[in-house]
Amino acid sequence: MDHFLYRNGTLHAEGVAIPDIAATVGTPFYVYSTATLTRHYRLFTDALAPLPHLVCFAIKSLSNVAVLKTLGNLGAGMDVVSGGEYLRAKAAGVPGERIVFSGVGKTREEMRLALTGGIRQFNVESEPELRALSEVATSLGLTAPITIRVNPDVDARTHEKIATGKKENKFGIPIARASEVYAEAAALPGLQVVGIDVHIGSQLTELEPFEQAYLKVADLTRRLRSEGHTITRLDLGGGLGIPYTRSNEAPPLPTDYGALIKRTVGDLGCEIEIEPGRLISGNAGLLVASVIYIKNGEGRDFLILDAAMNDLVRPSMYGAHHDIVTVAEPPVAAPTQEFDVVGPVCETGDTFARGRELPLVAEGDLIAFRSAGAYGAVMASEYNTRPLVPEVLVNGDHFAVIRERPTFDEILRRDTIPPWL
Ligand code: LLP
Repeated sequence: MDHFLYRNGTLHAEGVAIPDIAATVGTPFYVYSTATLTRHYRLFTDALAPLPHLVCFAIKSLSNVAVLKTLGNLGAGMDVVSGGEYLRAKAAGVPGERIVFSGVGKTREEMRLALTGGIRQFNVESEPELRALSEVATSLGLTAPITIRVNPDVDARTHEKIATGKKENKFGIPIARASEVYAEAAALPGLQVVGIDVHIGSQLTELEPFEQAYLKVADLTRRLRSEGHTITRLDLGGGLGIPYTRSNEAPPLPTDYGALIKRTVGDLGCEIEIEPGRLISGNAGLLVASVIYIKNGEGRDFLILDAAMNDLVRPSMYGAHHDIVTVAEPPVAAPTQEFDVVGPVCETGDTFARGRELPLVAEGDLIAFRSAGAYGAVMASEYNTRPLVPEVLVNGDHFAVIRERPTFDEILRRDTIPPWL
């Protein structure tokens, strides 16, 4: 459920009419709903209670500081994968003890930043990383709390580009080698082992792969404890999928996911951490665009928008589906037309949808991509020198621009001319 509904014939974000935002910021823009973000975050905390837990929002899915502050104020932790994301979490006022640092390629500089600024734990992904972190922590006179990310060799049954839990993927250490690697970690001076981390992929639409992975983590917890390690935290990653179409998809609910966690690892006395991104942010955002032209091609009609693949790359990158709706509510049983929905970028890959059935539209009409909150704005680029799309946050009857559209002056100023030119 989200808070983007038609009221009096016009699509609203909570209490705000989308055309009112368009009149202020121009199109295209992203708009996020505070009520939806809040509701989705609470679904997870409710599903995990009464287990001791921390829901760490995966910042990579939607990293605007105003969004992070919205969630941070509710008590959310943050899962960061770069120094930049760490600084965003801090800028949103989230204390270090609620920030976990994931990722296969943390640099020493990033380690230093997080260690000095405060960090709940590093989720370490390799032996060289263990050694580097121990060195950095020791040089600062600090101890780094760590989990080790294990790769459970489980098929997440999701898009190949976002599956991470198979042994051929670059993530984590093979679970079969965990004893050895934990022994090395325990012997390193700058580290304190606190738990185990696992993340098997994104947009999972079944619970079974989670179950397989979490049962392996439960076994490993017992084994590592018997080998003398103190395991007090389990970071179970993110990945729970969302419905991208309103008709035929019903991915598992956070309550079912919470029940699965309790059933598989709930008796171990560990604090549970999860790192959901998409389920919190995905359906909390729209990308709103205008129709520039309707072009009648040979055997197909093109709806040419002012948004493009650089603004929302998921369709061209993963073949992902996003529902597209008109901002003006179509009358019941209104006629429809099939369109290829495309952007202005100069490559055929700049296609959002082919043969999409849409209500009749005209040039200048507003349309909205649903489920665009996660991996939308954060994956945008300035390809074709198209300015990054502004972001707007709605809260009840109010809205605020939380990132402005850059001017061309600002964009051009970033390029510098060397002295010989
Ligand atoms: N934790 C770790 C270690 C991750 O790598 C990810 C996502 C998450 C948590 C959050 O997963 P979520 O709950 O959002 O599924 N750009 C792709 C998705 C990439 C996901 C990468 N890792 C897309 O647009 O579908």
